[in-house]
Amino acid sequence: MDATEHIDPNDPEAPVHRTAGAPPSAAAVREVLRGVIDPELRASVVELDMIRGIEVGADGAVAVGVALTTLGCPLRAQIKAEVESKVGGMPGVTDVAVTYSEMTQEQKSAAMQRARWNARAGAPDTEVPATTRVLAVASGKGGVGKSSVTVNLAAALASQGRTVGVLDADIWGFSVPRMLGVEGRLAGSDGKIHPTERTVANLSDPGGADGRLKVVSMGLLVDDESTALMWRGLILAKAVEEFLVKVRWGEMDYLLIDMPPGTGDIQMALARLLPQAEMLVVTTPARAAQKVAVRVADMARRSYMKVCGVVENMSAFVTPEGESFAVFGSGGGAALAQEIDAPLLGEIPLEPAVSAAGDDGRPVVLDRVDGAAALAFRALAERITADVLPPIEMAGCTARIFETAAANLAAKRTG
Ligand SMILES: Nc1ncnc2c1ncn2[C@@H]1O[C@H](COP(=O)(O)OP(=O)(O)O)[C@@H](O)[C@H]1O
Ligand SMILES: [Mg+2]
Repeated sequence: MDATEHIDPNDPEAPVHRTAGAPPSAAAVREVLRGVIDPELRASVVELDMIRGIEVGADGAVAVGVALTTLGCPLRAQIKAEVESKVGGMPGVTDVAVTYSEMTQEQKSAAMQRARWNARAGAPDTEVPATTRVLAVASGKGGVGKSSVTVNLAAALASQGRTVGVLDADIWGFSVPRMLGVEGRLAGSDGKIHPTERTVANLSDPGGADGRLKVVSMGLLVDDESTALMWRGLILAKAVEEFLVKVRWGEMDYLLIDMPPGTGDIQMALARLLPQAEMLVVTTPARAAQKVAVRVADMARRSYMKVCGVVENMSAFVTPEGESFAVFGSGGGAALAQEIDAPLLGEIPLEPAVSAAGDDGRPVVLDRVDGAAALAFRALAERITADVLPPIEMAGCTARIFETAAANLAAKRTG
């Protein structure tokens, strides 16, 4: 490449037209690159601001710099092949060379933000309001108390007078209806499903409005054979999508999702459908058990879902005499929090009442309000409403800014 031309790919003034037969302009190359989609972020590499300079030699050799979120990006080869194929197909191009660089932290979060809104623009509309805070409760493996944390946190938030949705996304291992003491069948009308509701007395302000829980679970779905079969045929991610799109949730301050254990596709589906979702990782105090929990946090981040914190459950049980029994070890929550660089938001003690109350459909947070576990769950709820994920003020402008941004992006894409 002897004579090269360096054009800032973001410069709208850059020349596009060239004499016929000559190599294309850098701006033209950039236009073609709009067709290269980052399969993970589901957006054009141009839109994601991943193109870092385009050089076109007089001999028709083109060099394209691509900034990746991480240099170890597994999709690197695929993006390279796409760039080569698109640019190589342009008249006048004799060679295509792709070089890589890594995005700075700031560029990375900007790209993720764009990708999230972008993904949303192409995703089906959910019935979850944009003003609802969404918290996915996940764990590396079953039996650590994911459902117990979900229902007690939901009940604690509702006991502050809030409206809280609970989506039992653990489709096959559902336990939320039993733990919250709701039963019956979900009602439906005009193709939509209505959540089962339950009121919760306001414990923070006894004169204030009651809180509400809106529960949706596989365990509450119609029990006729064909409907059950239909749901069984759906892959997990699709079933969760159905719950988000077909359920008439209505206004909610929070939506808590009891995530199924395992795979990352459920997180990806969630991130795509509800880009505002954040993840809470539940773990036990056993230090050795953190590997799988780390993996869950990794998967969430790969879907650009923020991990907002860690909850250690089954922490040391303290007798009224002050004697402490660390049945399942100690330090696991703090170790995980440090490893995944997220705050440790709470430690819920091991307490037989948690289990007994769950079996009775009366979450310990509402049943044994002065017990250590109830206090720990309430402290967790307060931490979340105070600073981790404070409720969005309906009249505030934050949600509108988000909506405007989404609308602008949608307009830009169609325009
Ligand atoms: N802090 C706790 N103290 C005592 N028992 C608990 C506690 N947390 C959960 N359990 C019990 O442990 C079992 C597993 O909890 P669960 O919430 O169903 O876990 P997961 O949803 O992760 O599978 C249940 O029987 C539950 O009642
Ligand atoms: Mg469970």
